Amino acid sequence: MNKQQPRTTRLHKPKRTVSVIATGSYVPHKVLTNADLEKLVDTNDEWITTRTGIKERRIAAPEETTSNMAAKAAQAALDQAGISAEEIDMIIVGTVTPDMQFPNTACLVQNQIGAKHAICFDLSAACSGFLYGIEIAQQFISSRSCDTVLVIGADKLSTIVDWTDRNTCVLFGDGAGAAILRHRPGSHGIIHTTLGANGDYAEILHMPGGGSKLPLTKENIEARPNTIKMNGKDVYKHAVTAMVSAAHQTLETAGLTAKDLACVIPHQANLRIIDAIGSRLGLGQDKVFVNLQNYGNTSAAAVAIALDEANRTGRMKKDDYILLVVFGGGLTWACSAIQW
Ligand code: UT7
Repeated sequence: MNKQQPRTTRLHKPKRTVSVIATGSYVPHKVLTNADLEKLVDTNDEWITTRTGIKERRIAAPEETTSNMAAKAAQAALDQAGISAEEIDMIIVGTVTPDMQFPNTACLVQNQIGAKHAICFDLSAACSGFLYGIEIAQQFISSRSCDTVLVIGADKLSTIVDWTDRNTCVLFGDGAGAAILRHRPGSHGIIHTTLGANGDYAEILHMPGGGSKLPLTKENIEARPNTIKMNGKDVYKHAVTAMVSAAHQTLETAGLTAKDLACVIPHQANLRIIDAIGSRLGLGQDKVFVNLQNYGNTSAAAVAIALDEANRTGRMKKDDYILLVVFGGGLTWACSAIQW
């Protein structure tokens, strides 16, 4: 009897390095300023600016969906990479505002950009969705299960904001960011990603209604359970602690120190949180990328849009070390050290 030959699986081959080869982003045209919000709720530009750093945010048109924004960001990344959508093996969309419960947003993006060979799924990790997606893409490419992965962070938070709640409505905006990952010989690419989560604090940042636990009914809709509920102070404390600790852990595992970094791109939720991270890592303000004054907190899209803007404006050069660090509902957090 012939002894069966062991099947050569892709996993038996040596791992490959994985790089971000291109980025893209998209934000809607409509701008909502702090002055506009003064007409909606009891707030003012001075409070919003000093407590958050946000000056304006973008709001998608009613017919413009999360998948539409994601597809536009993806197309910008494809154009930059100079590759066709048919080369994409996998699409991952980090979002908490999918177009609908199912099919997943990634399938809708696949259809819009013509990525007909890609497998598609969404990833629910709130503001950490993009970096969770980067780590999954990295694993699939390094193990040779995929060659080209499109990772997107996209959210239309304006559909789940309570526009009567001044504690939250001034903070959020809509948008999408994308990255294409591949093996690029001769580059370290993604050196290490730290992922973290703590479900003990699920209720300090959540949307309680509209899921299987609390479906929307005629009786409960008035209380707007399908909008963001947040204990801002608690989230603030956990955000600083988790992101600083993830950054230290990632730098240590990557064999780097903060001094090696050309740029840190943090989640764009609050300028005071970003400043606290920068100072605890001992970084000058010039090393920390900030664009939240223009877009507010766009959840999974925030770090992806920031990465694209940093890339397109030349904030990092080839071979520079950069750090991406995020935090969101769940609680979830993540940090990636990358050689660009
Ligand atoms: O993406 C996930 C991560 N999310 C975050 O990282 C958000 C984290 N949290 C924060 O960014 C901050 O906690 C906030 C910006 C949400 C709030 O800042 P804060 O310094 O923690 O303010 P606070 O919630 O303690 O509110 C202070 C005061 C309160 O008034 P009293 O009770 O002291 O009289 C609020 O009612 O500010 C009042 N306030 C406002 N005033 C004018 C709250 N929102 C507003 C507003 N305009 N929009």
